[in-house]
Amino acid sequence: MKNKATKKLQDLQHFGEFGGVNPSISDSSTYTFMAAKTMMDSFEGHAEGCYLYSRHSSPSNLYLGEALAALEGTETANVAASGMGAITATILQICSANDHIVCSRTVYGGTYAFLKNFAPKFNIHTSFVDITSMEKIEAAITKNTKIIFCESISNPLLEVANIPALAKLAKKYNLILVVDNTFSPLSISPKLLGADVVIHSLTKFINGTSDTVAGVICGTQEFINSLRDVHIGASMLLGSVMDSLRSASVLKNMRTLPIRMKKHSENALYLAQKLKADGLKIIYPGLKKHPQHELFKEISNPEYGFGGMMALNAGTLAKADELMELMQQKGLGYLAVSLGFYKTLFNAPGTGTSSEIPEDEQKQMGLSEGLIRFSIGLDNDIAHTYNEMKKCLINVGLLKA
Ligand SMILES: Cc1ncc(COP(=O)(O)O)c(C=O)c1O
Repeated sequence: MKNKATKKLQDLQHFGEFGGVNPSISDSSTYTFMAAKTMMDSFEGHAEGCYLYSRHSSPSNLYLGEALAALEGTETANVAASGMGAITATILQICSANDHIVCSRTVYGGTYAFLKNFAPKFNIHTSFVDITSMEKIEAAITKNTKIIFCESISNPLLEVANIPALAKLAKKYNLILVVDNTFSPLSISPKLLGADVVIHSLTKFINGTSDTVAGVICGTQEFINSLRDVHIGASMLLGSVMDSLRSASVLKNMRTLPIRMKKHSENALYLAQKLKADGLKIIYPGLKKHPQHELFKEISNPEYGFGGMMALNAGTLAKADELMELMQQKGLGYLAVSLGFYKTLFNAPGTGTSSEIPEDEQKQMGLSEGLIRFSIGLDNDIAHTYNEMKKCLINVGLLKA
């Protein structure tokens, strides 16, 4: 699939207030009106081009939102202070008490915890299902279902969601398909495949420097307007707003996203193939044995490869810990949560980023305690990385010398 949206992103130009190639940062929380009537109109959402208050919108946030809408091919986008700020606002905007959500059982632990433990306080209930089974998803839909929620590449098991098939199902039952595309910016374009709302934790690949948390909701103008509505908008009223200084820096980092994603993918594929050939248990969508390898190829933009995320099963948590500590000592990366950094990051999600998911449910979904999730970095000499990694694997006894 060729991605028309990324062309839009490439062609996007912003002219700063003083002709600067970077737009000026809007360093204000509030904005003046020359006429009182315009301020009133603005509260009603009818004052095009006017700013009211930065929790509602700000020039810097609109610039970043415009770039993210171009990335995803949506009409517009609303940035948030974190990925969770984007996810919770979207869900609470769409759902009311007694509504129901069908969600992939392999999602980020925070999303899982919100849906499992927090949303029920508002009588919003969720069925967690195997997102690769259309039958199970369809069977979970009730008359109260409002949303199908999934990640394009799931966290941490790297299952690939069949977004076109999910979109069809969502249309059939008049549901909203919300896709968290954090793991696969550029390589997968959910909106172009039929999703209604696309979410990112910008904290990860899009910002790419692990120096902030940030998020975005990409969708129709109508949906984004509803999120910003001063009377009923979840983004406006829950207040997860990004600061202008941060959105300006995320926008600058985003310009290198295409070249970074290509390198993350190239490095991850190299390591996955080598380590698999060595006999290790590797999960990576670029490997032919991955259950959704063909699907990934069908729905992705090939120039960006299979993404920067890879998982290795070390067998036991003790072995995983030993390996991660050694790799960190040897300078191969950091034992840290999160992803999308220039250095490789690794953690054992069973006790880390997915620890919100109860142990028995982890087992059910195939998340073993020895699984290490890698966000592969931008290493210039990946053959050197592989050689050093191999030494660590031999050292801890996962490979023979
Ligand atoms: C797939 C995914 N979605 C959402 C989030 C939450 O994003 P944030 O930490 O920016 O709130 C994360 C965080 O790890 C994630 O991995």
